[in-house]
Amino acid sequence: HQSVDSPLYPLLAAAAEFYRQALKSHPARQAAVDYLKGRGLSGTIARDFALGFAPPGWDNLLKHLGGDALQQKAMIDAGLLIENAETGKRYDRFRDRVVFPIRDGRGRVIAFGGRVLGDDKPKYLNSPETPVFHKGQELYGLFEARRHNRDLDEVIVVEGYMDVIALAQQGLRNAVATLGTATSEEHLKRLFRLVPSVLFCFDGDQAGRKAAWRALEATLPSLQDGRRARFLFLPEGEDPDSLVRAEGSEAFLARLEQQARPLADYFFQQLTAEADPRTLEGKAHLATLAAPLIEKIPGANLRALMRQRLGEITGLPGGIPPTPGHNQPPHA
Ligand code: UTP
Ligand code: MN
Ligand code: MN
Ligand code: MN
Ligand code: MN
Repeated sequence: HQSVDSPLYPLLAAAAEFYRQALKSHPARQAAVDYLKGRGLSGTIARDFALGFAPPGWDNLLKHLGGDALQQKAMIDAGLLIENAETGKRYDRFRDRVVFPIRDGRGRVIAFGGRVLGDDKPKYLNSPETPVFHKGQELYGLFEARRHNRDLDEVIVVEGYMDVIALAQQGLRNAVATLGTATSEEHLKRLFRLVPSVLFCFDGDQAGRKAAWRALEATLPSLQDGRRARFLFLPEGEDPDSLVRAEGSEAFLARLEQQARPLADYFFQQLTAEADPRTLEGKAHLATLAAPLIEKIPGANLRALMRQRLGEITGLPGGIPPTPGHNQPPHA
């Protein structure tokens, strides 16, 4: 891979160190410390996730790292500086924000997220795509989860930085986040190389439910027999952070054990809500929706069982509608 020895890595590491130090000792740090405390985070968790603070001002990092033009160019490539296209003026991307370093599987800092301390917009800023940061592939928190436990047996996939960190704060150290991008087949391939079981727990809102269905679709090609995916749907308005802080880890785990739904259950429940299985037309529609998805499953046993289930619901033999070649009118 081109980025193996990228000069951007030491630069990103130096930036993470600068932000981390600023959270410890910058004169303006107190607002950030209060913010993190207000969200229930301890110093230990802040350290484990290497949280930092980008101080207010346009050129703190630029002055700290950006010695010469070459260095500044590299900082732009790393997503740390922004260059104004018209004036050519360069300034820090992350300003007056709590900073979350995103690390790759080996623990190298590859990008950052930054959250405002109040209600300003945008709430989160993220590094752009760079030679070392490919959004659709990375999972925030995976390095930290594996460092904590080399023998993970399940990973919880959530939406945001604070969901990962709040769960870790409550002792649930196995959460990772997709960071506002849809869960991809790449994400799932990566996760299933490490664990046999994935639990999706997105926000209890319309976007979260949509994300869950997309995650289901992205999971299907990874579903070998012996692997499983589950879905936990949260009460309206809650996300994993708000819920685990409100009810604590024991109640959250109990909820998980009682309410997490196997992928196949969610699959048929969702499709039978979309296409009414009490009518023949609905059954036909249901089979058309379900069959191509079921065929993506590599696990022969699960695939057969889901075809069978579809057959029970629709009455179609084997659950699978005839291929287009079979239902052409004669002499077509
Ligand atoms: P949410 O809107 O659910 O935010 O976005 P959150 O994580 O619950 O934020 P808090 O609790 O108010 O801090 C989920 C994720 O989507 C990405 C971030 O990764 C966020 O964690 N996002 C969201 C952005 O990249 N930019 C935004 O402006 C908002
Ligand atoms: Mn690359
Ligand atoms: Mn949300
Ligand atoms: Mn959220
Ligand atoms: Mn939240």
